[in-house]
Amino acid sequence: MQILSMALIAYLLGSIPSGLWIGKIFYHRDITKEGSGNIGTTNTFRVLGFKAGLVVLFMDILKGTLAASQPYLLHSPVNPLLIGLFASLGHTVSIFDHFHGGKAVATSAGILLAYNPGLFALAASIFVGTLLLTSMASMASLVGISAMFIIALFLHDWILATVAGILTAVVFYRHKANIGRILRGQEAMVNFGLGHYL
Ligand code: G3P
Repeated sequence: MQILSMALIAYLLGSIPSGLWIGKIFYHRDITKEGSGNIGTTNTFRVLGFKAGLVVLFMDILKGTLAASQPYLLHSPVNPLLIGLFASLGHTVSIFDHFHGGKAVATSAGILLAYNPGLFALAASIFVGTLLLTSMASMASLVGISAMFIIALFLHDWILATVAGILTAVVFYRHKANIGRILRGQEAMVNFGLGHYL
């Protein structure tokens, strides 16, 4: 029973479409109709600017972290990653967004933060390093999540490997259009120059 309620709360937390709601409430804009149409951090930076992007990044990480922290808070022996997985599910298939949603990157990072802050820092460094090298947020997301799966295998952390494997599949699936654009050399680049994010 407790497992079910933790999973449900994780799903509902993950379902909160921060980018969509912040755009509608504070900017009167629908980010699903602009830029890439995604409700995540990258498209929020791109469409609404730096401040909104930072808030969405923080909120999307936080909902994953809160969801995965439930077993610690309730002294439950369930692995936080298994509960956190439902937050990423909520983020991609959100009950508050007609069962649409984002690409599961920041929320999955939040789950990792609750599980192991050191691994979160490593994943974040891999993401930032790839972003600086390629200027593509999508590429950074794909490399970051795949790296986590490979690192989990090296660590023989089979639960992390399973969850990271599932999330890698979800993230790749949700980035289908990005992967097509990367292969055609047409993916949007992040412009670090003047604070304009394209
Ligand atoms: O986390 C999403 C990012 O990897 C790609 O976002 O808006 O460029 O499709 P976007």
